Amino acid sequence: MEVIVQKTYEEMSRTAAREVANVLNAKPNAVLGLATGSTPLGLYQELARMYARRELDFSHVTTFNLDEYVGLPIAHPQSYYHFMHENFFKHVNIPPQNIHIPSGTTNNYRAFCEWYEKRIKDYGGIDMQILGIGSDGRIGFNEPGSSLQSRTRLKTLTKPTIDDNARFFEKASDVPVYAITMGVGTILDARRIIMLANGAKKAAAIAAAVEGPVTGMITASALQMHAHTKVFVDEPAAKDLKMREYYDWVYKKKPGAPQV
Ligand code: F6R
Repeated sequence: MEVIVQKTYEEMSRTAAREVANVLNAKPNAVLGLATGSTPLGLYQELARMYARRELDFSHVTTFNLDEYVGLPIAHPQSYYHFMHENFFKHVNIPPQNIHIPSGTTNNYRAFCEWYEKRIKDYGGIDMQILGIGSDGRIGFNEPGSSLQSRTRLKTLTKPTIDDNARFFEKASDVPVYAITMGVGTILDARRIIMLANGAKKAAAIAAAVEGPVTGMITASALQMHAHTKVFVDEPAAKDLKMREYYDWVYKKKPGAPQV
């Protein structure tokens, strides 16, 4: 794993956006795996700015989102469908038929999950997966205890996740208890992965994911087994990293390294 520490959230978002732009420049019909949440908002804004400046074109891009709440119709303000359209899709030119978000309202979740996995394969797999990280160390809705080989499936959310989400809903009974999520195995199949984290409340999760043992209790730690993962963090999220000096040294020395 390569760890890239940037001073601010804005710098982190810009550096990560360049990483996505490099993939799209090399492969205009790339397949992107996308995450929701507050973390990638700056990255999406930066990509939208690049599109507005005509530096990027998304007309051949295909996307697959990581997850969606079960039971929320797409128009619900808390659905990930709604989130993605408001914060990214309506600002760029990805053809609507190329956008995939797990369905939170299908009447056959098992069949839907199998279809989603097959659809990713049919498109040639994910070229770059964008991830955030939960403060419990999860990627997607792969809550602690998830199998590191898991595929897209229905997942029961943990009590802390449900309690944390309650602030976004009017009534406690509206807070989703289940989600559909790509599995850890699905995520690890992506050719490249970038994980972003900002703020001190992510510091422990980042340290555990990057420097702790690989464990299903911190599903982001499975990224240690992936050959092309870059972790972008701001200063507060990097504060518990023991190897911080080395990460900075590698990043500084990178431009002079022999090209492989
Ligand atoms: C999002 C997702 C989650 C978030 C995580 C962090 O699709 O699957 O794992 O990445 O909950 O959320 P934020 O970025 O809001 O802190």
